[in-house]
Amino acid sequence: MSPAGYPAARKLVTLGGALKLQQIKLCRLDELPVGGSRGFDVELTDGLASIFLVRTRRGIFAYRNSCPHTGGPLDWVADQFLNLTGDLIQCATHGALFRPDDGACVSGPCAGRALQALPLQVIDAQIWLLPAATAGS
Ligand code: FES
Repeated sequence: MSPAGYPAARKLVTLGGALKLQQIKLCRLDELPVGGSRGFDVELTDGLASIFLVRTRRGIFAYRNSCPHTGGPLDWVADQFLNLTGDLIQCATHGALFRPDDGACVSGPCAGRALQALPLQVIDAQIWLLPAATAGS
């Protein structure tokens, strides 16, 4: 995997044609344990985008995989978006740290800015990206 590229294991999740107005199923709840994170490529209103989920004791959160510092992806290793202690999202490029709850940068070159949050919902133990973010909505 290249440091600036997408991890080879990233999962592409997309819906085609008439189904674009629907929410997108990302993964099962048990595939994202507390302290875990996962990346996906999805079709959003502005085209194909890299996004990620993080799960902490306070909940599950979805963000675009785009650091406010340079716009590049936060991860260098597939599905690793959290720091070693699992309490903050960390950008692998220059080390910016973000709160999982609201995406606010609390340390690093983009302090005061925030990740772009995406709406999600857990339905029947499945994590869904809601139509407000998906293509065609
Ligand atoms: S690109 Fe994320 S901190 Fe610089």
